[in-house]
Parts: sequence; C-alpha cells; structure tokens
Amino acid sequence: MSDPSTSKPDLDDDTNVSTDAAAVKRENQMFTQGSEPISLWVILGGALIILIAGGVIAGSIFDYNNYVKPGYVRATAPGAASAATLPKSALDAYLKIGKKAYTACSGCHQPGGEGNAAYPPLANSEWVTGPSLRPALIILNGLHEAITVDGKTYNANMPSMGSGMEAKQLAGVLNYIRNSFGNTSDSLVSLEMAQNALDVSKERNGGQVTATELNADYNIDLVGAPLDPETLVDPKTLLPVESNE
Ligand code: HEC
Repeated sequence: MSDPSTSKPDLDDDTNVSTDAAAVKRENQMFTQGSEPISLWVILGGALIILIAGGVIAGSIFDYNNYVKPGYVRATAPGAASAATLPKSALDAYLKIGKKAYTACSGCHQPGGEGNAAYPPLANSEWVTGPSLRPALIILNGLHEAITVDGKTYNANMPSMGSGMEAKQLAGVLNYIRNSFGNTSDSLVSLEMAQNALDVSKERNGGQVTATELNADYNIDLVGAPLDPETLVDPKTLLPVESNE
C-alpha cells in the first residue's frame, strides 16, 4: 500500500489528453442497431427507381391526354400570339410564298427579274403586269416560239413550271412577279383566281403555249374576286380573316 504522505505527483505521466482523444475519434463510430447510415449506392439505386417509376406513372396516370378533351387546343395567352399565326396583310403573306416559289424561276429570269440575253425580263414586262390569265398559263404550261417583251423579241423555250403547283403557290408567284422588280398591281390574284387558272389550263390540256395563242384566246383577267393588298389574311391559308372591329 502506498503511503499517502509519500505520494507525489506522477511526474512521469506522459498522458496527453488531446492526442488520446484524437485516437478515440479515429475509431469507427458505433451505431445503435437499426440506425446505421445507408450506403451511398443504396441511396442512388433508390433514387433511380423512383425516377423511373415517376416517369411511368406520369406517362400513364398523369398523361396530359387523360385530362384534356379530344380536340382541345390550348389558347394562346392574350397578346402572346406568335407572329406565324397573326393575320398579315394579303400583300405580305402572298409575297412571302411567292418569293419562295420564285426560286424555281430565278435561274433563268434572274433574282432581280431583269433576265439576260437568253431569258426575257419579268421587270417591266407587259406579259407579267397585263391581264392575269396570260402569265398564269405561261407558268403552268411553259412557252415557246417568238415573244416580244419590253420591245425585244426572244425565241426560246420555257418549260412548264406547273407540275404539282397548287393555287397557293400559283397565286403567290403571280403576285410576287406582279409586285416586284419595280412592277406594281392594284389588286392581288386571289386563291379563287389561281384556281380558275388551274381549271383553264386543265381544260386546254395542251403543251407549251405561244404568244400568238395567248393573245388570241387568253388575253383576259382570271375569273374571281381579286384581293385588296391590305386585306388581313391568315398567313397559313391565305384566306381573309374576320376583322375584330
Ligand atoms: C429554264 C428557264 C426558265 C425558267 C426556269 C422559267 N422561265 Fe419563264 N421564260 C423562259 C424563256 C426562255 C421565256 C421566253 C420563251 C419564248 O421565247 O417563247 C420565258 C418567258 C416567261 C414569261 C413571258 C415573258 C416575260 O418575260 O414576261 C413569263 C411571265 C415567265 N417566263 C415567267 C416565269 C416564271 C414565273 C417562272 C417560275 C415559276 C419561270 N418563268 C421559269 C425561261 C424560263
């Protein structure tokens, strides 16, 4: 037994509290059974399952079509109608379609309609700006034999451009050449008038037209109500829209 009177402080004691505590800290933590942390892989796996299940459920139970009447079309927010569906002036709408269709012509008649030594100009041409049935039949059937345009005579061959052409394209390209290159017309060729050209061309049922034939039989305007260039039309159908006023 040690004698308390002789007991001295343990000067050899090299216990260092902070390093001992650090060693304890490094030990794996013990958890109460049932509250051990879950492996990261289990969490990720679970998240993946929930994600897929969510997709499946959303695609069936919550499918948009289950809650929307067939034929329902979402209305555009007021003032947010897109430019593509807003009514346009007939002139703008037809010129847009016509400009596209004219790419089939520009290789010969040139982008600016000025023509060249081989191809007659569409600018300042009485065939373009005159009675509307003549240029319509030239486009739909092609043209051969001599023709005088703006004081110059050409004697070449234009192939038919009418294959697959619908009233929309025909009206577009007619309005384009009649209102570009410095040409202007007071009224536009409507879809009704373009359809008249398709009908006349079908009835004629021949090959390329000639200037002589055009002047003898077709020196008239297309039948139908022309369009005022300012009329508002639906840019998709090219048909006039009811004004809101
Ligand atoms: C392969 C070349 C070629 C293409 C493509 C062509 N044309 Fe022509 N076009 C001619 C030629 C050549 C003549 C004159 C024919 C003649 O001498 O009889 C002509 C004549 C015309 C005329 C009457 C004369 C005039 O200059 O006003 C019009 C209108 C016309 N073309 C419009 C069109 C339009 C619109 C298109 C496109 C849809 C088109 N052409 C595509 C070669 C072409």
